[in-house]
Amino acid sequence: ARLLVLNGPNLNLLGTREPGIYGHATLAEIEADLVERARAHGGHALETFQSNAEHVLVEKIQSARGHIDFILINPAAFTHTSVAIRDALAAVGIPFIEVHLSNPHRREPFRHTSYFTDLAVGVVAGFGPLGYGLALTAAIRHLDSNAL
Ligand code: DQA
Repeated sequence: ARLLVLNGPNLNLLGTREPGIYGHATLAEIEADLVERARAHGGHALETFQSNAEHVLVEKIQSARGHIDFILINPAAFTHTSVAIRDALAAVGIPFIEVHLSNPHRREPFRHTSYFTDLAVGVVAGFGPLGYGLALTAAIRHLDSNAL
């Protein structure tokens, strides 16, 4: 299958950004690990993309229609603000898992709401970079069985 991993604003700074919250791994390291895991666990093709711009993420999701089977997305701060990215995911109808490095529910109240959770197949949060791998495992299972 074809998977797309999307990361939102400030996640390009992983490795140096608040490492006590987000860990020491860089986004490049996380992405390379996912590409390799997807290949090793069934020969899946995995594409990665990061942007700090809401409209760029919207356009990436729109263009995924018809050639991406599953999305892993960490919308970052847009989790709590972006009706536009939510609507793009709903429009293309591609199943997705919402990923967060931290557990937003144990942080500030403004992080306790998500525009994505009620559309997601599932959510992985609070496990740092490991969460992306957990989400990939769940995504592959979902694609293989069409159920979790
Ligand atoms: C985040 C949590 C968000 O609240 C925050 O704005 C981020 C990262 C996470 O991965 O824990 O940028 O999505």
